[in-house]
Amino acid sequence: MPEQLQKKWWKESVVYQIYPRSFNDSNGDGIGDLQGIIEKLDYLSLLGVDVIWLSPVYRSPNDDNGYDISDYRAIMDEFGTMEDWETLLKEVHARGLKLIMDLVVNHTSDEHSWFLESRSSKDNPRRKWYWWRPGVDGGEPNNWGSVFSGPAWTFDETTGEYYLHLFSRKQPDLNWENPEVREAIYDMMRWWLEKGIDGFRMDVINFISKVPELPDGFVPEGEKYGLGAPSFMNGPRIHEFLREMNRKVLSNYDIMTVGEMPGVDVEEAVRYTGKDREELNMVFQFEHMELDSGSGGKWDLRPLKLTDLKQSLTRWQKELEGRGWNSLYWNNHDQPRIVSRWGDDGKYRVKSAKMLATLLHMMQGTPYVYQGEELGMTNVRFNSIDHYRDIETLNMYREKVADGWDPKAILHAIHVKGRDNARTPIQWNDSDHAGFTDGTPWIPVNPNFHEINAEQALKDPDSVFHHYRKLIALRKEHPIIVYGTYDLILPDHDRIFAYTRTLGREKLLVVCNFYGEETRFCLPEEIRYREKELLIANDKVDEAEGIRSFPLRPYEARVYKLS
Ligand code: NOJ
Repeated sequence: MPEQLQKKWWKESVVYQIYPRSFNDSNGDGIGDLQGIIEKLDYLSLLGVDVIWLSPVYRSPNDDNGYDISDYRAIMDEFGTMEDWETLLKEVHARGLKLIMDLVVNHTSDEHSWFLESRSSKDNPRRKWYWWRPGVDGGEPNNWGSVFSGPAWTFDETTGEYYLHLFSRKQPDLNWENPEVREAIYDMMRWWLEKGIDGFRMDVINFISKVPELPDGFVPEGEKYGLGAPSFMNGPRIHEFLREMNRKVLSNYDIMTVGEMPGVDVEEAVRYTGKDREELNMVFQFEHMELDSGSGGKWDLRPLKLTDLKQSLTRWQKELEGRGWNSLYWNNHDQPRIVSRWGDDGKYRVKSAKMLATLLHMMQGTPYVYQGEELGMTNVRFNSIDHYRDIETLNMYREKVADGWDPKAILHAIHVKGRDNARTPIQWNDSDHAGFTDGTPWIPVNPNFHEINAEQALKDPDSVFHHYRKLIALRKEHPIIVYGTYDLILPDHDRIFAYTRTLGREKLLVVCNFYGEETRFCLPEEIRYREKELLIANDKVDEAEGIRSFPLRPYEARVYKLS
């Protein structure tokens, strides 16, 4: 049976991502917490999602908001206690939902006891749990740059050597070459699985295998650092490590596993998720997220070309068909808000947010909704760098200012691409701080919470929220949305993104106007049908109207079932 027809609960599910710090604060300290999440579970049930992915809630000094873990088996004090977490799991399961935890094992915090031991002396038994190297010519062991600016190495006085950190200096990379490290991680994973969780989202999991010699990388023109990626992205032993993890841990449970994998291509994704590979269920890849960046990377802004987006999403749809499985997403805690990015967060905010949701949710793969996306929350434009909290943003700002860039231009890039766009508190209602906290929020609330908030959205049958609810419900009613094959139509049209899904004799037709001007849709001749039924739309549609050719209003989206 082709892979896409292998029925699995995680293919039929919709995932909702919670970034706990910004979700809901129950105790007035300005920081979201576990009890705050529990208070909102009925809201998630109403939305209709199946799985909650919880960004890290483990003990952490919060250099990178919990992606720097100092104890994998403890809960961050600001979020609550292990008892709160147990209650959360119980309450999630009581509603028929599932909970997947974030697994961050490419690195730990530098405050994790493993690292404290490792740095204490060269002959400490945990020395080889991390990547230590002597300096070369009075400088770093190689020329790699860190994802969060500066070199990927920090010198440590105690032993006079450098340690590797692909992210911040407080996130030292674990050495997966060492079998003791792998066993310790598998043990920790079993510990959580035995508590009854339903799976893991695995942070930069395709970075864990490094070329052990850690060779210098190529230095692009005008750049300070060499590119280490060829030595750690999809590295030499990655499939061996994941298969080992699968054999020793994952295969013993009925769970969902999703690998966050920057720089993965389709062929590699087939190797990670193919049925007979025994590695992971699905990848979370970034190709479409990179289409509005120039060669200078994320902060090098360039407009999106719709045909590029069609090509990328279509390639993933077609080439994984029957061979692997993908995540579908527009947003997460690292990405700007989609309605500001590729929709219109002004006049057409509601309509364009619904169009983008429709376009994504009718594709094949497991859809992810990031908190606030279902409200059509927008980017924030703080007028001073002082309001920003994200380490990536702050380090980049400092580095570029020091290099003589215009601070205004950097702030503009942050407005467009910064990670804090996704991290402002969820807008629950129009009371102070949007009902997120009774205290002072750790990051300011987006000032547009008076117009955009959950209370208002729940009351309005035409809100973005109710559109997401309908899309999620449709996926449950129509197996074609999960299992049908995909075909792009009008590939060269520069305004319309349209495609079909096919399962047996059934066909879905999805038509989206990606822009704010009216255009005309013409159905390709070869698509024939006897009857049509409108499944969902984001504007009034005359159902008697023929669909061979019709005007498509600004940001209009329609889905028809053809038979
Ligand atoms: C990817 C996570 O999504 C991001 O938030 C984090 O900063 C890095 N991995 C490092 O853990």
